[in-house]
Amino acid sequence: MSRPYLMAGNWKMNKTPSEAVVLAEAVKNMKKGANTRKMVAPSFVCIPAVADVLKGSDVTLAAQNMASVESGAHTGETSVLMLKELGVTAVILGHSERRHVYGENDGLINEKVKLALSHGLEVVLCIGETLEEREAGQANDVCFGQLEGGLAGVSAAQMQNVVIAYEPVWAIGTGKTATPGDAQTVHEACRGKIAELYSASVAESVVIQYGGSVKPGNAAELMAQSDIDGALVGGASLDADSFASIVAFDD
Ligand code: 13P
Repeated sequence: MSRPYLMAGNWKMNKTPSEAVVLAEAVKNMKKGANTRKMVAPSFVCIPAVADVLKGSDVTLAAQNMASVESGAHTGETSVLMLKELGVTAVILGHSERRHVYGENDGLINEKVKLALSHGLEVVLCIGETLEEREAGQANDVCFGQLEGGLAGVSAAQMQNVVIAYEPVWAIGTGKTATPGDAQTVHEACRGKIAELYSASVAESVVIQYGGSVKPGNAAELMAQSDIDGALVGGASLDADSFASIVAFDD
């Protein structure tokens, strides 16, 4: 079975609503291969405007985060119910900036994963080691722990709605990309871990994206690795030409 490629733009805290509309229009019109899917994750306040642009298109609309509970006294948080009403169908959870800047741990991320899946949202669960952890030879073990923690209580059936994004923290926004071989090694190991947690067939079908300084010049080489099934792109997704060339990596 050949897994589809998922090319996603995580716009982070960039683009005002009017700028986001322009970029969303461009993404909508980007050419892609038959086996490629496009996704964008604008900031919360840009979602309504971007949803209007993407309505009826082949671009999946994702949020960058969400609260771990549906409603209540949670100042500054955004609920899955609000996102669904706006047409959001996917959510990025456990991004390294959420883990390392905002202190989210596997337990909290797991609550969010389970809530999103129970509402039928697709989840992009981010995992990845820091430079210190990599240098200590712990890259695989850190990723395994984040997979186990983030996916606790998630059923094999729900895994159809889960994408994993391997984003080594030291490669995010630094211009340092993991070599395709290094990335492949971790992707293969994580697929093995998923086989252990679920089954060989779940592991075979789960999409594992790579993220961290993906650009037009390295996308094809990364995507050529057998266990790399797409990219979660930060900086290069903010420029329409760059993202277009990443989306059409196999052109
Ligand atoms: P960069 O592509 O800017 O390195 O960001 C990667 C990332 O964090 C995507 O979620």
